[in-house]
Formats: sequence, C-alpha cells, structure tokens
Amino acid sequence: MKLLLSLSLVACLLVAQTKAASNLVCFYDSSSYIREGLGKLLNPDLEIALQFCSHLIYGFAGIRGDNYQAYSLNENLDIYKHRFSEVTALKRKYTHLKVLLSVGGDRDLDVEHPNKYIELLEGEKVRQAAFIQSAQSLVKNYGFDGLDLAYQFPRNKPRKVHSEVGMVWKKFKKVFTGDFVVDKDAALHKEQFTSFVRDVKNSLRSDGLLLSLTVLPNVNSTWYFDIPSLNGLVDFVNLAAFDFLTPQRNPEEADYTAPLYGSDVQNRLPHYNADFQVKYWLDQGYPSTRINLGVAAYGNAWKLSADSGLEGTPVVPNTEGPAPEGLQSQKPGLLSWPEICSKLSNPQNQYQKGNDAPLRRVGDPSKRYGVYAYRSIDGAQITEGIWVSYEDPDSASNKAAYVRANNLGGVALFDLSYDDFRGQCTGDKYPILRAIKYRL
Ligand SMILES: *[C@@H]1O[C@H](CO)[C@@H](O)[C@H](O)[C@H]1NC(C)=O
Repeated sequence: MKLLLSLSLVACLLVAQTKAASNLVCFYDSSSYIREGLGKLLNPDLEIALQFCSHLIYGFAGIRGDNYQAYSLNENLDIYKHRFSEVTALKRKYTHLKVLLSVGGDRDLDVEHPNKYIELLEGEKVRQAAFIQSAQSLVKNYGFDGLDLAYQFPRNKPRKVHSEVGMVWKKFKKVFTGDFVVDKDAALHKEQFTSFVRDVKNSLRSDGLLLSLTVLPNVNSTWYFDIPSLNGLVDFVNLAAFDFLTPQRNPEEADYTAPLYGSDVQNRLPHYNADFQVKYWLDQGYPSTRINLGVAAYGNAWKLSADSGLEGTPVVPNTEGPAPEGLQSQKPGLLSWPEICSKLSNPQNQYQKGNDAPLRRVGDPSKRYGVYAYRSIDGAQITEGIWVSYEDPDSASNKAAYVRANNLGGVALFDLSYDDFRGQCTGDKYPILRAIKYRL
C-alpha cells in the first residue's frame, strides 16, 4: 500500500513536471485556404501539422459593426463551404487536439466601424449579450472547443528609434504633448474588458468550453489587461510578442522585429522584446504555465535605399517602407519562411548576380535578438535592396528553449500557413513547427 502510494506520488510529480511547456498552439488563418499558388494550404498539408499541435486556433471571426454580433468574416468559406465543420471534424482523427475559434486579429478590418471593439466594451450589457450569445452559438454549432479573443485595442504609436539627434528634444516634448497616449480612456476600457471577459467566460463555463486571450502585437498590456483579475477567467494567454517594428508602422528604419531580449544601445524602447512582455505578465502574478509565447513564422521585409548603407547592421536607416510582396505571402513587406529560405544562399541561386543574388544571412550567436538577412544597393549591379528580420527553425527553437527555462505553458505559432508546409526549403514539412515541438 505504502509503495503504491509513493509510486502514484512519483507519477503525479512526473505529470506535474511535464505539465509546463506542453502547449503548442497553432494559429490557422483560414484565408490561406483560398490563396493562389504555393501559399494555398489545404487539408492534407494541414493535417501533417496536427500531430504536433495541442491546440488549433481558427482565424478569424469578427464583430458586426451594426449589432455587435460575432460572425464569420467569410461565410462563403466558413459556413457554406463547411470549412468550420471540416476543421473541427479533424478532432475525430486527432483526438488530443482542441480547436478554438478566434475573434479579431488583424483580419477583422472594418473601415465603417473602426472602433467597434471599443464600442462593444463601452456599450450597455445588451450589446455585450448580443456578442456573447452569437459567439457561443458559433462555437457550439460548429463543434469548436472554445473561443479565443484576439481583441483589437488601440496600438502603441510607432516611434523612430534611430535618431540620437533630437532624442532629448523628443523626450522633452513627450512630457508635454502626451505623445505616447493612444487612448485617454484606457483605464476605463481595462475595467470594462475584465467585466466583459467575465461574462464571456460564464457563458462558456457550463459547457466546459475554453476561453483564451491573444494579446496582439503592439497592444500594451499595462493599459488594457487587469492581469490579476483575468487570472482564473481565461484558460491561457497567447502573447504575440513580435512585430514590435514593421515596415508599415516604421517605414523609415528597419530593426529586429521580434527580439527575445532588449538592448539598451541605440535608444530602443525597453518593452519592445518578448522577455519584457512575458516578465510583465509574470510580475502581475499570472501563472507561468498559462502563458504561451507567440512566435511568428514569417519575416518582415523592408525596401532599402541607396542611403541605407552597405552593412545592414540594425537599426538600418533610410529604408523605404515594405519590400515588394512575395508570390506566396501576397502581402507587401511580409515573407513566409519558405520565401525567405529561397532567397538565402542555396544551390539554385548561389551563382546569381545583381538583384537575383542570394541575401546575406547574419546569425545571432548571442541568441538574444534574432536573425536577419539583406542585400544592399551597391551602386553597380544591385538596384533593389532588401532587409528582412525573421525567425528560422534555429531561432524559433531558441524561443522554445526560453519557454522551457521559464516554465511557461508553451508556444503559439502565427501561423501554420507561413511555415514551410510543403517542405520547399529542405524537404522537411513544417520545419519551424517541428523545431519548436522538438525543444518543448
Ligand atoms: C506600456 O507603455 C508604457 C509607456 O510607453 C511602457 O512604459 C510600458 O512598459 C508598456 N507596457 C508593456 C507591457 O509593454
């Protein structure tokens, strides 16, 4: 009896030990289903990922601007072409998998109602009831295991980090103009959000459905999340700790977009790194095992000018906004991992010259800031310069190691369609996802 007891104690301890760092939350952007060309992600390729993912988060649903109901942003695909049900049906085959529906993200763009997420919080309870009821129906009718709130809050204002000159003046000015204030009612919205989340959670609780929160890039947790109160309301949180700079927000200079740690040289902001964001949630008493660190599978690419210099060392000055879109990603300034990989030196391009020459890759032995690659304008053959900050399987694996070392819940990958799901780079399908899984 005694032996049995101690054996089960040992078993419990082992379970407890493996509990942390076991989440691999895979974001799935359903618009990849209707992309043209090699970026099109269909079921057979999606399924390969599912053996590695603990959760699949289906993106994205939105909020209707007129009545605040949750709804599919592409009803033709999600509902009439049965994509919602097809994806949740995969749980029968991959029984360990939890599938959540995400509301918001950067997909729910609505020029007529740009403030609807805030209006929903500010409105009367009936307004929120409309959202809650409709969200609950979507989740239940289509067989999801829960809801993810990738809530759209006002973003941090982009700031130029480079110029040393004028820095003192700017700091001075900021004190008077409140340059960094993006929402003067942030404190109120924080309170309203907590109460909203409580109501959402209550609507899901009786059916045992999950609720997660995704903190979108450049949404400031200090302003919008009452972390002690959210503890106990949301099952886990995904910190999208990347895109601190992007070619859209910061067209004139390029820098590491998702550094793990901060660096105090060159006037960088202390909170623009993953470690700061994680530590902030931890310091507020949020349980480490419920935090998933977000890792992007894509890179941000800037167009270089002749004045950006030859070295490529970040912070790179005088950039000209987003580099042209990739054939697969089809978004200016964004390149998927297989697209980046094909631009690095490989047997196909190693003897190419000029604008087709391979990019020069600069690794990060310190494992603190991430990798980048570039091709600068040389005044001769190269007329199209590019600088890209990205995650590769090694750097992603390094972030997974950080997750383990800090006893976090796991990693959230954004998203499956930007990893190399066809194995174009080395033949391995989903090399970033695998590298993370292997480390966790
Ligand atoms: C929110 O912004 C303020 C002011 O810019 C900054 O001091 C703080 O660290 C930010 N919080 C987080 C969690 O990034």
